[in-house]
Amino acid sequence: MPGWAGPMLRRVSARDDRAPVCQHGKQRSPSGRRSPVTTPSHSAVAGIDLSSSDFWAQSLAHRHAAFARLRALDQPPFFAEPDSPFATPGSGYYALVRHADVAEASRNPEVFCSGRGATSVADLPAEFNEYFGSMINMDDPRHARLRRIVSRAFTPRMIRKFEDDVQRTAAVIVDELLATGPCDFVGQVAAKLPLKIICGMMGIGEEHYDMVLRNTNTILSGFDPEFISADMDEAITQLLTAGQDLATLVTGLAADRQESPADDLTSALANANIDGEQLTPAELASFFILLVVAGNETTRNAISHALTLLTDFPDQRALLLDDFAGRIGGAVDEIVRYVSPVIFMRRTLTRDFEMNGHAYREGDKTALYYWSANRDEAVFPDSARFDISRSPNPHVGFGSAGPHYCLGAHLARREIAAILRELLYRVPDIRAAGEPDRLLSDFINGIKHLPCEFSR
Ligand code: HEM
Repeated sequence: MPGWAGPMLRRVSARDDRAPVCQHGKQRSPSGRRSPVTTPSHSAVAGIDLSSSDFWAQSLAHRHAAFARLRALDQPPFFAEPDSPFATPGSGYYALVRHADVAEASRNPEVFCSGRGATSVADLPAEFNEYFGSMINMDDPRHARLRRIVSRAFTPRMIRKFEDDVQRTAAVIVDELLATGPCDFVGQVAAKLPLKIICGMMGIGEEHYDMVLRNTNTILSGFDPEFISADMDEAITQLLTAGQDLATLVTGLAADRQESPADDLTSALANANIDGEQLTPAELASFFILLVVAGNETTRNAISHALTLLTDFPDQRALLLDDFAGRIGGAVDEIVRYVSPVIFMRRTLTRDFEMNGHAYREGDKTALYYWSANRDEAVFPDSARFDISRSPNPHVGFGSAGPHYCLGAHLARREIAAILRELLYRVPDIRAAGEPDRLLSDFINGIKHLPCEFSR
């Protein structure tokens, strides 16, 4: 399972025989003890192998049907792990596919920890996790400290400024779209807004935007050959270079801001706050990598999917246009539920623990499938229906309640709402003009290219 920094972990679909299977067909848990779950084979459960890139190359409908079968099982399914060039493959992981399991694991960080890696099921070196994942791969007290410093940097004045910037930037992007005409919606619209907003927040100049986007695409490339080499050595170099380029950019900027602070997040993070806390240069570099990757690669995909959804469900589009101000909040949340731009995050058991009738052992790995929890019929009636008036809508697209709940959820909602407002009012007949070209990834539900059409 590649996850974040995908090429570090790649495997072909056909399983080899290295996964630890005991004589009776039961798999061993990562702690080396026998797992209580019996699976038909060591590579697949009910004919489904979430560790195979072939699974993620299938159509969305196929994948959703497979997860529905997994949700119907009595126990959480257990899968073998892919190979990693950095570590002996672990014994496997439980896929938490039900809403109740994702919610409970998220609100129990002392038991379901993130510090052994949240963005990849395979164990990566600790330095690697911190370099690329910052706080998302940490537990308290280090996580709490970083989150506190970062949260304090988002002062109400700064948030107001970003909010004005979001609407203004969305308007300029749509000006440019109208001037260009029908085009690739991802490059021309969806990728631009989050990129400009994140870079603007940090004080990164426009001349660096292309470099930032190229590098975040590399880091979340999954298995996709458009963004990452098929050669493992080359891929690792590409990945480390991408991280290094982003780190160098922000470290240089932070040094400038320490000399002459400006009204941006880099200044607030690089200089001590009222409690005398500040990020070290290494912490700032890693946080920046997390912020640009998390901020760009998720919101962009939500916006691209939104265009396909509003094309495929004209009744929902009409409903939204009928009362944009009243319905946009619900529409944005339904887009995030339906799309689940982030497919999973990992947690690791710090001790033996029973949850929803299943006994987990210390060291067990779990993948929290937001993508599946968001389609759980036990919580979302008619879950395959895209319904902007769905209420309640307790989706876990931004994570579930817990310390790692998405730091950018408010900003992402604003960005999606702002661009849809500009598009639907100013380009009312815009539509997806073909099938999306999808990212091959098990971690991000991404769209690489999407033709759009409209009259001018
Ligand atoms: C539609 C857009 C977005 C989606 C679907 C999304 C989803 C997520 C998810 C699922 C998590 C992990 C939650 C958990 O482990 O419990 C997360 C964490 C995070 N997100 Fe987002 N995100 C989005 C936009 C953003 C934006 C715009 C930013 C930055 C401005 C951002 C910054 C972060 C950060 C820093 C974390 C780590 C928080 C922590 O570990 O304490 N995200 N996001």
